[in-house]
Amino acid sequence: MSLPVVAVFAALTACLFCGPPPCAAGRNEQLNYRPIIGVLAQENLPGDQSPHGSSYIAASYVKYLESAGARVVPIRINLTEEEYTKIFFSINGLLLPGGDVDIETSQFTRAAKIFYSLALKANDAGDYFPLWGTCQGFQQLSVITANKNLLTLTDTKAVTLPLTFTPAAKSSRLFQSFPKDLMQSLADENITSNFHMWSLSTQNYSRNAKLKKFYKVLSTNTDGKKEFISTMEAYRYPFYAVQWHPEKSPFEWINKSGMNHSTSAVRASFYTARFFVTEGNMVPLNVSLPWSGCFQHYLFVHFYFLQALLLNLIHLKC
Ligand SMILES: *[C@@H]1O[C@H](CO)[C@@H](O)[C@H](O)[C@H]1NC(C)=O
Ligand SMILES: *[C@@H]1O[C@H](CO)[C@@H](O)[C@H](O)[C@H]1NC(C)=O
Ligand SMILES: *[C@@H]1O[C@H](CO)[C@@H](O)[C@H](O)[C@H]1NC(C)=O
Ligand SMILES: *[C@@H]1O[C@H](CO)[C@@H](O)[C@H](O)[C@H]1NC(C)=O
Ligand SMILES: *[C@@H]1O[C@H](CO)[C@@H](O)[C@H](O)[C@H]1NC(C)=O
Ligand SMILES: *[C@@H]1O[C@H](CO)[C@@H](O)[C@H](O)[C@H]1NC(C)=O
Repeated sequence: MSLPVVAVFAALTACLFCGPPPCAAGRNEQLNYRPIIGVLAQENLPGDQSPHGSSYIAASYVKYLESAGARVVPIRINLTEEEYTKIFFSINGLLLPGGDVDIETSQFTRAAKIFYSLALKANDAGDYFPLWGTCQGFQQLSVITANKNLLTLTDTKAVTLPLTFTPAAKSSRLFQSFPKDLMQSLADENITSNFHMWSLSTQNYSRNAKLKKFYKVLSTNTDGKKEFISTMEAYRYPFYAVQWHPEKSPFEWINKSGMNHSTSAVRASFYTARFFVTEGNMVPLNVSLPWSGCFQHYLFVHFYFLQALLLNLIHLKC
């Protein structure tokens, strides 16, 4: 071994086996300035034009969270419950992305349910574990909470819409610290990207006791016929759901309707991401051994690059 290689090896060994490594410094801090947010992968669809492997994470969700200060780890589908539990205790929050899998029977759903139930338990026990659902993620959360699929078809496949805020929006955790002019833009301009066929109608939400008790509606929209919920947050848990796509404005550049890259659209994207990352700041990493935080960090970074480079798992998709 040449001298630099030995030095690197020695440094790495010291980090892994002798404490305390530089990255374990956050253990006793009240704020974790760069939280680790998991993004759940999902099955590729049979009709995918350019499949890379059998599952994927759209790159825009990773960029969206990283641009707001998070470290992101991909979470594979098809893992065991034990593996998901281990990951759960190593991350500070989870994002369920948009996509097009079956939200009752997919492996995506199976994993989402495991994390949802762990998040309920952790939050009940005084921990702080935030969940975020975008589009399919929104729908998935509604199906898990209601234990029933209450979605209905709407004509919202590629449209930009302004949000119709409810009176609760202003004092909500999600929107309360958004600048006033941004709230105005969200309310007036067609800047939220909608790419969904299915929606949770205000009617079905109102008629379902479980959903009504669990989520506070922050905004609605309509396709001209049916009113549906476009933003909601849980009353008692740090769970958030948007039927629209904040990650698309800055990070997806496909030439089709339903996209908007204006200043206010990009600002809205950043503020939602920054909000969620800040929610992930609330608890330090659960580090039980002096070196385990460091180890997990390298493990995840390694895992991330392996997936990105070797398996081409992370690619652009809507
Ligand atoms: C998950 O498991 C199913 C079979 O149960 C298999 O068809 C699929 O390829 C697996 N997906 C991944 C990403 O491993
Ligand atoms: C820390 O993680 C372990 C499992 O790795 C878990 O049993 C424990 O409850 C966690 N503690 C907190 C405070 O989350
Ligand atoms: C309500 O949910 C049912 C499924 O349980 C669905 O068939 C129906 O279309 C929904 N109605 C509305 C108005 O959302
Ligand atoms: C803008 O929003 C309005 C109100 O929802 C809608 O009627 C209109 O079609 C939208 N325009 C575009 C270009 O999406
Ligand atoms: C975007 O697509 C439209 C037609 O769908 C086309 O007229 C326009 O030139 C395209 N713009 C770019 C920048 O490719
Ligand atoms: C995007 O939204 C802005 C308002 O923020 C609007 O002026 C612009 O026309 C929209 N662009 C497209 C392509 O819809």
